[in-house]
Amino acid sequence: MKLLVHILCLCLALALAWAHHLGNGGHRSAAHDRCEGLEMDAVAVNEEGIPYFFNGDHLFKGFHGKAELSNESFSELDDHHHLGHVDAAFRMHYEDSPSDHDHMFFFLDHKVFSYYQHKLEDGYPKNISEVFPGIPDHLDAAVECPKPECDEDSVIFFKKDNIYHYNVKTKAVDEKEFSSMPKCTSAFRFMEHYYCFHGHLFSKFDPKTGEVHGRYPKEARDYFMRCSNFSAESDHVERERCSRVHLDAITSDNAGNMYAFRGHHFLRKDEGNDTLKADTIENAFKELHSEVDAVFSYENHLYMIKDDQIFVYKVGEPHTHLDGYPKPLKEELGIEGPIDTAFVCESHHVAHIIKGQNIYEVDLKASPRSVINEHQISLFKKVDAAMCNSGGVKVIVGNHFYHFDSPILLVAGKALPEQHKVSLWLFGCDH
Ligand SMILES: *[C@@H]1O[C@H](CO)[C@@H](O)[C@H](O)[C@H]1NC(C)=O
Ligand SMILES: *[C@@H]1O[C@H](CO)[C@@H](O)[C@H](O)[C@H]1NC(C)=O
Ligand SMILES: *[C@@H]1O[C@H](CO)[C@@H](O)[C@H](O)[C@H]1NC(C)=O
Ligand SMILES: *[C@@H]1O[C@H](CO)[C@@H](O)[C@H](O)[C@H]1NC(C)=O
Repeated sequence: MKLLVHILCLCLALALAWAHHLGNGGHRSAAHDRCEGLEMDAVAVNEEGIPYFFNGDHLFKGFHGKAELSNESFSELDDHHHLGHVDAAFRMHYEDSPSDHDHMFFFLDHKVFSYYQHKLEDGYPKNISEVFPGIPDHLDAAVECPKPECDEDSVIFFKKDNIYHYNVKTKAVDEKEFSSMPKCTSAFRFMEHYYCFHGHLFSKFDPKTGEVHGRYPKEARDYFMRCSNFSAESDHVERERCSRVHLDAITSDNAGNMYAFRGHHFLRKDEGNDTLKADTIENAFKELHSEVDAVFSYENHLYMIKDDQIFVYKVGEPHTHLDGYPKPLKEELGIEGPIDTAFVCESHHVAHIIKGQNIYEVDLKASPRSVINEHQISLFKKVDAAMCNSGGVKVIVGNHFYHFDSPILLVAGKALPEQHKVSLWLFGCDH
């Protein structure tokens, strides 16, 4: 009997080692492709507001890109537990306590870890019961809920059917029932909205009552991931309007038609028609294929920049790619790629090109074209996309855009103007 147990153990160990090998070896990318519809164990934004999605012992930072091992960023998660996954995570919002505010908290089994800028705080990990008395071990999900979204600065913990509102100041625990909400495997606060992820689906909920309004659940991939291929049921227009993934580029052509690019897709809104249309870049701009860095429109042509190359399309039905393109960006505009964004204002002949915190002006009438002016932008570290029309300049960073009456005011700006949601104000998505 003893021998049998030994053999069994050995077999199990070998099987585990083999599974482990597969998990981290050649099959790693296949096993950790978030576009396959992975279920996330935990989700939280970091100190800069970048979402971190945890799946098994892997971590996805931001809305696209490959998985990395969680222990590369948070090495201590391994030391005490070799569980290989995080149960729950959130970013603390508690302004009265600088030693906790904005820290990332991770829950593993009965332990809690507090990190600030990827560094574990002294004394951690601690037992959950020490730091959050009244909150059970082996959590399913957790999410911060600051005032006034919750009545007090709170954390909402989820375990099975139980929901705990934990008051971070008084440490009072209020147990509630969120009867209409599915069981969350992870929960996430993003742009003041609350999301419960269950499997590869998510539902938006009211953090006070747990009510789910609107048509949920929805596909997590469609809103929180950037994939080249979406599920067959995905509504491309709805997804692209409402996605929380940043845009790659945006422009409006001389007729006032707007184009907004993200990954393999783009949205188009024609002048005088509020109906948005979605298409793939592959279909309308075949030579470009996908994932553009910047697009500007000039004299009825779309200038589309990807890495260090520029593609030029004459606007029409269909758009036609000009002979001789793509060309090196350096040859066409006198600037090295890659760039972040570019725009031309109405009938002007100057392209404004943003690269990091530098903005360059290129005279489009000159031959050869070259940079004629260079400025620094102090308001933004990195701009995702920008466009200019008769209304002024719209600068898009993440999920928000900022309006400036002119490029000069963007350069001169010292205080951020009011921020607007891209999904709502540009595409009319109200959820
Ligand atoms: C991280 O985890 C992997 C597999 O889970 C392991 O092989 C590696 O040694 C760990 N690295 C550190 C720095 O702990
Ligand atoms: C933490 O929890 C473990 C297991 O429940 C227990 O043995 C240990 O004494 C606790 N540590 C503290 C500091 O409370
Ligand atoms: C995209 O996904 C669909 C199913 O959702 C599949 O039929 C199709 O082959 C996929 N296309 C590519 C290019 O992967
Ligand atoms: C707006 O565009 C939609 C979709 O292409 C089309 O069906 C509709 O007729 C257009 N409306 C107007 C007023 O042109």
